[in-house]
Amino acid sequence: MEASFYRSSGRLLVGGTPLGHLAERFGTPLYVYDWKTIQDRVEAVRAAFSSTDLTLCYSVKANSNRVLLRRLAGLGLGFDVVSGGELQRVLSADLSPARTVFAGVGKRTEELRMAMESDIWMITLESIQEARLLRSLAFEADHENVPVALRLNLDVDAGSHPHITTGRGADKFGILEEEREEALLEIETDTCLELVGLHMHLGSQIRSIDPYEKGIRRLIDACRAARGRGHPVRWLNAGGGFGIPYERSGEVPSPGEYASVLTRPLEEVEADLVLELGRWLTGPAGCLLTRVLYSKRRGGRNLAVCDAGMNDLLRPALYGARHRIETVGRGESEPASWDVAGPICESADYLGREVCLPSDLSPGDLLAVMDTGAYGMSMSSNYNSRLRPAEVLVEEDGGLTLMRRRETLEDLLRPERGLV
Ligand code: LLP
Repeated sequence: MEASFYRSSGRLLVGGTPLGHLAERFGTPLYVYDWKTIQDRVEAVRAAFSSTDLTLCYSVKANSNRVLLRRLAGLGLGFDVVSGGELQRVLSADLSPARTVFAGVGKRTEELRMAMESDIWMITLESIQEARLLRSLAFEADHENVPVALRLNLDVDAGSHPHITTGRGADKFGILEEEREEALLEIETDTCLELVGLHMHLGSQIRSIDPYEKGIRRLIDACRAARGRGHPVRWLNAGGGFGIPYERSGEVPSPGEYASVLTRPLEEVEADLVLELGRWLTGPAGCLLTRVLYSKRRGGRNLAVCDAGMNDLLRPALYGARHRIETVGRGESEPASWDVAGPICESADYLGREVCLPSDLSPGDLLAVMDTGAYGMSMSSNYNSRLRPAEVLVEEDGGLTLMRRRETLEDLLRPERGLV
């Protein structure tokens, strides 16, 4: 796969377009995504899993813009949603609910009802009480065989950052082994629900195939047991979580390596595979452009204060995540170590620390925070009453699609009431 963003004559480009031009045209901070990269990544996953019947669902939470969702549907992807809002994104973009799965540990009654009435592919239940609630909603509405999956907590530690490791026994997600019998009984009680799938999601940014190997074995045992009781389980959903190399040196498995542990076991039970990938598909296809506002020295270190902060990109402040940060439009001079901060009134508001950048970095210089196509814009907020950035998609032919305009002060104040 070719690199999405590359350097030529000192300038950073994407698909032939200098990123500096995008910053001038659309302003900063700006999220830029490369459509060709996303297509290539979808293709790479499909090729790696070609020996199995794979339904690839895009995890909407990674980057929820509906322009992107519609493009991905055009490539044949389904969707993984975790709230009524995400489901509404899929429905309002006229995308197929029949390829949409709905997990989430705390679905509200209205969300379950909405999912049932929209005829989505399957609702992934995460507790016995949720199974009971959905059964009663199906009964009231006279629905039969509402397709459901059970998200199993298989007690597998994916070894990722503790905030995004989700499959350990003490994590809040899914149904534990000791709860499984009761959950199945709940589904068997009448014909309201039909168990068509089993699901696991071990965590995100997983950098090893071992947790998948362990998890899929346990999922297969659970599949045999459920089928033994007459449940028509046809799909095994291995969730998302494939890791990407945020730092140049970071090693992650290839899709082929993930496939090597996931596909063969499925053949034993003749089940079809579902994957819910977010980060792996869109993360490396995006960058956040930001302009240096000021520079100063602090504690003997170089500090650049930029116009993007933790409200635009939360990952460094929330997880201590390290994203590569590169200059956009200038030749390299003598390198130096810089801390790159945002304008927010919090000491955690850094985009990066100890980043190698030119020693003479100055106000007006543009920087690109790399690999921010997933969990960037979708986790942004208006904190400090800042306006959220615009998003631009670079097309294969170099055309530009404004996927979301920059927010205005009017957008910011619109929901507030009661001033008069
Ligand atoms: N399926 C379920 C049920 C999930 O909860 C998630 C992500 C995915 C699939 C997609 O996982 P992915 O392939 O993107 O790893 N904000 C964090 C990541 C949180 C992931 C939450 N769940 C970050 O910025 O690292």
